Amino acid sequence: MTSAPPTDAPFPAGPAGPAGLTVQKVGGRLGAVISGVRLGGDLAPETVAAVRAALLTHKVVFFHGQQHLDEESHEAFGRLLGSPVAHPTVPSGDGRYALRIDSDYGGRANQWHTDVTFVPAYPAFSILRALVVPPYGGNTIWANTATAYSALPAPLRTLAESLRAEHSNDYDYAALRPDALPEQLEHYREVFTSTKFRTEHPVVRVHPETGERVLLLGNFVQRIVGLTGRDSRALLELFQRYVESPENTVRWQWQVGDVAIWDNRATQHYGVDDSDDHARRLRRVTVDGDVPVGVDGRASVLLAPKAVPEPPFGAPSGASTAAPAAA
Ligand SMILES: [Fe+2]
Repeated sequence: MTSAPPTDAPFPAGPAGPAGLTVQKVGGRLGAVISGVRLGGDLAPETVAAVRAALLTHKVVFFHGQQHLDEESHEAFGRLLGSPVAHPTVPSGDGRYALRIDSDYGGRANQWHTDVTFVPAYPAFSILRALVVPPYGGNTIWANTATAYSALPAPLRTLAESLRAEHSNDYDYAALRPDALPEQLEHYREVFTSTKFRTEHPVVRVHPETGERVLLLGNFVQRIVGLTGRDSRALLELFQRYVESPENTVRWQWQVGDVAIWDNRATQHYGVDDSDDHARRLRRVTVDGDVPVGVDGRASVLLAPKAVPEPPFGAPSGASTAAPAAA
């Protein structure tokens, strides 16, 4: 496990620049801690460029001591990486872009997933900020989907490149949360699936910034197109095994004031639900992504509904890019 050194004091206020910025790897396949940066909307362009470069290289980057951030400055920092986008179905915590990820809110992300892949242009980056952390447990694990792809034997890489998969936000929540209260689950499900999305993605996506090939799977996948349910499940399990392999992951133990930013196009993550009834509250701002493209040049396609509906606030995920709708 990545052990986070104690950092009670936030970084001092003042202009941050690459001069004081350090990047230290915390995992062999992904993950790095960035020090010497006080996150906010006023970072120097060269600092933003350094953070973005580290993010693309290490897939998930961690910052300590960012207690000064509030909803506004969290969002302002997000704007330095792209256009913040609202979740397509779940209302935000502040009426703007900050999504509540709270242990007492019903939704727990204890499945391997990439954020919001049930829409075509799912977020490029997610920025998660810890407000309240449990005394134990509640870690998040990330996996590198580029190294998962490259670790596949050549015949399996070729097979994956030829496949497309259907992703949806409408799946069996109860099967994944057997210990949750039925009414809590029902409420979460009602909100989360208020619009039922279906999107067809390539199983191997070409990353739009790095050019890397990545596996595009996770728990929103319902089936591989053109296969029976049984074949589909067998193949998904096979590919997902390369994603979830312990050597392909990094695990983070949260402290108050920590911020994690991940390249949502090159990772999956898993919120470990092992802190009993202790409170865990985080806020997430996501930044708009592109419509994925497969190795064969074919783009992802929104199957349902006809278009991504407008959320109550701001632009829907994928709004800054032209998501091709199914005919
Ligand atoms: Fe997530």
